[in-house]
Amino acid sequence: MKPLAFLASLLLLLGCGADQRIPPTTDAEPAAIIPAPQSVTYSKPRFLADKQLVVYADDCAAKAADALLVTLNQKSIDARMTTNREEATIILSCDNPGFHLGKPNHEAYTLAIAVTAIELSAPFETGLHRGLSTLEQILDQEWSESRSLTTRTIRDQPAFVHRGMLMDVCRHFLPKEVVKDYIDHLAYYKMNTLHWHLTEDQGWRLAIDKYPKLTEVAAWRTELDGSRYGGFYTKEDVREIVAYAEARHVRIIPEIELPGHSQAALAAYPHLSCTGGPIEVANDWGVFKEIYCAGNDSTFIFLKDVLTEVMELFPSPYIHIGGDEAPKYRWENCDKCQRRIAEEGLHDEHELQSWFIEEIGAFLEANDRTLIGWDEILEGGLPEGAMVQSWRGFDGGIQAAQQGTRVVMSPTSHCYFDYDLKAIDVEKVYSFNPIPEELDSTLHPAVSGGECNLWSEHIPDKATLDQQTFPRMLAMSEVLWTAPDDRDYDRFRERMRRQYPILRDRGIAYGAETIPYTHRTEWLDDSLLLVLEPQQEGLKLKVELDDTETTYDAPLVIKRNGAKNVIIQPVQDGKTVGNPDVLQLWAHQANGVTPQLSSQPSEYYTAGGADALTDGILGSTDFRDGHWMGFSGEDAEIVIDLGEQRPIESLYLQTYQYNNAWIFSPREVEFQASDDGENWVPLTVIYPEAGPKHRGKFQSFFSHETDGMQRRYVKAIVRNIGKVPVWHEAAGADAWVFLGEFVVN
Ligand code: ACM
Ligand code: ZN
Repeated sequence: MKPLAFLASLLLLLGCGADQRIPPTTDAEPAAIIPAPQSVTYSKPRFLADKQLVVYADDCAAKAADALLVTLNQKSIDARMTTNREEATIILSCDNPGFHLGKPNHEAYTLAIAVTAIELSAPFETGLHRGLSTLEQILDQEWSESRSLTTRTIRDQPAFVHRGMLMDVCRHFLPKEVVKDYIDHLAYYKMNTLHWHLTEDQGWRLAIDKYPKLTEVAAWRTELDGSRYGGFYTKEDVREIVAYAEARHVRIIPEIELPGHSQAALAAYPHLSCTGGPIEVANDWGVFKEIYCAGNDSTFIFLKDVLTEVMELFPSPYIHIGGDEAPKYRWENCDKCQRRIAEEGLHDEHELQSWFIEEIGAFLEANDRTLIGWDEILEGGLPEGAMVQSWRGFDGGIQAAQQGTRVVMSPTSHCYFDYDLKAIDVEKVYSFNPIPEELDSTLHPAVSGGECNLWSEHIPDKATLDQQTFPRMLAMSEVLWTAPDDRDYDRFRERMRRQYPILRDRGIAYGAETIPYTHRTEWLDDSLLLVLEPQQEGLKLKVELDDTETTYDAPLVIKRNGAKNVIIQPVQDGKTVGNPDVLQLWAHQANGVTPQLSSQPSEYYTAGGADALTDGILGSTDFRDGHWMGFSGEDAEIVIDLGEQRPIESLYLQTYQYNNAWIFSPREVEFQASDDGENWVPLTVIYPEAGPKHRGKFQSFFSHETDGMQRRYVKAIVRNIGKVPVWHEAAGADAWVFLGEFVVN
């Protein structure tokens, strides 16, 4: 049915009479409900409670009534239960005939706020809980002093069945209470799935009775600084969290990663690896070559034992087994894996991965569970009955749908909340459609919905979790719940802003909607000017330079005196938004001079052009911050023309190393100087202090103090780009050199 015809029939059904139908998302709306309900019909008078609220519930709604009383109690709204429907001011019932056009939706509900009573009805218990979330949002925004509500009828059901968030508790562990709070927030915004990523290279987070070393060994890692980091959930914790989610009608889908991302488990049980170990729990980020041995029968005994205990803990009909990013290097070099390939008549290691997943899929199916895997599980043939989560774009999902498989869409383009706001801001999330245009309409029902991933490499605590999740999750909740024809970004944004006080009341340290500000430098005589431009209405910037804090109102002046930190904290409505940023700046003689480059950087890491090397903004420890220029392959020469002979005291070339991402310090840097740009005088050759095996992410400077020379031209020659890591076993990737700034003092 077309949306308009659908609306018309709804209006007929409602018999509107004197009621005035206002579209669900106008400015005039008394409460800003997110996600926007399918239809809202307002009437003029108000529901007024001059005394205690009295709740009546049909038997089928008893649990929902309990939940409602807890909620009312938390909000200090006086309420009691009754068994007499006649005296009730809130009625919860399960009969909801006539509303559903077609198949009843188990999350559909009708909420009618009339003058004398509030009636919530739904054909299923889950629908009652979705209706309670709507009622709670209305109470949060309208109740307050007046103890009254605008009367209206809301009829609502979701556009998509699967509305999820992935929580990764492996890279960083989150306490039980944080997980429970998160589930509350999911329910408040009608998200219905917590995809709980429980096992990783860097930590195994789930107690398994049969394999105690998973929590004794695999749950703990030794950090680069020697400290221990880790944690896990006991079975008691998990039961408590699962029950908490069930009470809110949020499904928890556990993810037990295989065959890759399994280094922590292999550290505890190295006989399950191809080499037999020893293996350590990973203490850095990336994709690792240690994966379960596919030729070893013990691997499958172990995994099936683990999954048996997982299924005892989690009632979810779906079990996620990962399947992504499994390098085949170990399998290629393992006799047992090669024997398996031969015995099973497989072509290669990709088919071995499929065979692996099929073994596990069959086991889950025999236990009445459905396997979900990342889109890599399509590679060597899809296991029957599996569900695919498409993350490397939409293509995997399209391919899966074409093979008759259900799909959850989580493309990196819209759904990765660990990405920063430059890549994915609220508006970008809101533009997401889980159904790609190129998917044939007959296959649309294959798309169950969408899910946002929040990998936790850079999420050490709740504050960062909140900042990355909110307010972006509000946009996703509306994308997945509200019918596409009822969505409008401007109206959504208005409602989202009205939700900020509620987010604060809920203790959520939400972040910005979009990159909070842009920054650039200008130069004036001997100074560098830092220019900031807030990008969000009403947003202010608190800035700190040289221990002095101010609210930004004019460019900051940075004198020529070495590197300086500027700390920038966005503030809205007097409240900080997200974590502060630190920008490192250096005012020097080459500011504003466009360097000549002998070779061009990669199109992915241009830093916006050669000027980035002299703009006075240093690269941070994040090589994607837009200030790093990435080179691969040839040696690079950078020439700076100061326009006239000038006294030069020192030269600094800023470089970066993060060997997990194949970014290495140059093997050597030579500085030269010239008066005419043709005849060059060598000054010095410098070698890196840290070798290529030095781990972690770090910036460094190749520096040279001159003896007070007067020159017009200087040059840095960066040698042996792309020829670095002979020691690295997983050969094949390009090596990189990243340059941040060429400082001429
Ligand atoms: C993924 O982001 N590796 C699924
Ligand atoms: Zn093997």
